[in-house]
Amino acid sequence: MKTKIVNTEGILEAAETLKSGGLVAFPTETVYGIGADAFNEEAVGRVYEAKGRPSDNPMIVHIARASDIGLLAREITSDVVKLADAFWPGPLTMVLPKRAEVPSRVTGGLDTVGVRLPDSDIALAFIRFAETPVAAPSANLSGRPSPTTSRHVIEDLDGKVDMIIIGPDCRIGIESTVIDMTVDPPQILRPGVVTIDAIEAVLEKPVINAADKDDAPRAPGMKYRHYAPDAEMIVIQGNRERVKSEIIRVKELNERIGLNVGVLLFEEKDFITAAHDFYAELRALDESGVDMIIAGALPETDGIGFAVMNRMLKAAGYNVAKV
Ligand code: TXA
Ligand code: MG
Repeated sequence: MKTKIVNTEGILEAAETLKSGGLVAFPTETVYGIGADAFNEEAVGRVYEAKGRPSDNPMIVHIARASDIGLLAREITSDVVKLADAFWPGPLTMVLPKRAEVPSRVTGGLDTVGVRLPDSDIALAFIRFAETPVAAPSANLSGRPSPTTSRHVIEDLDGKVDMIIIGPDCRIGIESTVIDMTVDPPQILRPGVVTIDAIEAVLEKPVINAADKDDAPRAPGMKYRHYAPDAEMIVIQGNRERVKSEIIRVKELNERIGLNVGVLLFEEKDFITAAHDFYAELRALDESGVDMIIAGALPETDGIGFAVMNRMLKAAGYNVAKV
């Protein structure tokens, strides 16, 4: 397939392509997405093919105005309205009871649908012109780090989608917070920069942190490497100074046996930059040809630190050393 790569001037054409059943990769504030018309089952099916992703994994449906939530969800509670008011447009996905019209292909057979109003002018214009909700997973090949620049998207999807809209680097850099609003209290399924504390403050009640429970390994001993770089990865966790010296020690040890070792270490308290750079650094390390990545853990007491650690631990297949 020949992929047409356009900038913002091509948004209208991209919207037409989507409307007629095509696949279009587009920027959002979190990561790039690969979009299909959410009401076109065949197009949605082709997204799984393009990504090489198992088809039981549900997709997030993107809308351009909050009132379009009614096209997708059967029921809208006052808690849902509160969160939409507080965090939309923005990096929050709400899982809601789905309307029968939403194809089960989109939701991986579930009776619920994840809905998000992204905070990106390009994404919003694209969805508005398309005049339909846009089902879109992250625009990476399955198992690769999520794409936060147009170059990452072109690397993964050139030749696999009809169009790619190139835009600025993604402002946030990790995927949206996913919260299940079909249960009370609501449950966080995936942490993000909209933190649990911020959500609790808006709802004025506790929510449950169920992150990772939904994709816990089903077979004992099976390791999940969702956001995996090609290199082996290990996370060093503990007191900052000890982490730093352990990174140096493990690096030297492995270099002595001939391995090419890369280090992933963020400023301890600059969580926003860590989120912004995380996936891009993983890709850059892979490109540099390292055999092994040693990463320093961030404090999980901070909400964004917790969200970055969720990805870091998965990328490392839960390969952790405590010091
Ligand atoms: O920031 C984001 O959310 C990006 C951009 C493109 O919007 N999208 C994204 O999509 O990260 P994806 O497919 O890579 O991740 C979607 C996550 C998965 O963990 C999936 O299990 C969960 O959302 N999800 C979607 N619909 C769901 C549902 N109905 N019930 C439970 N989890 C759902
Ligand atoms: Mg993804």
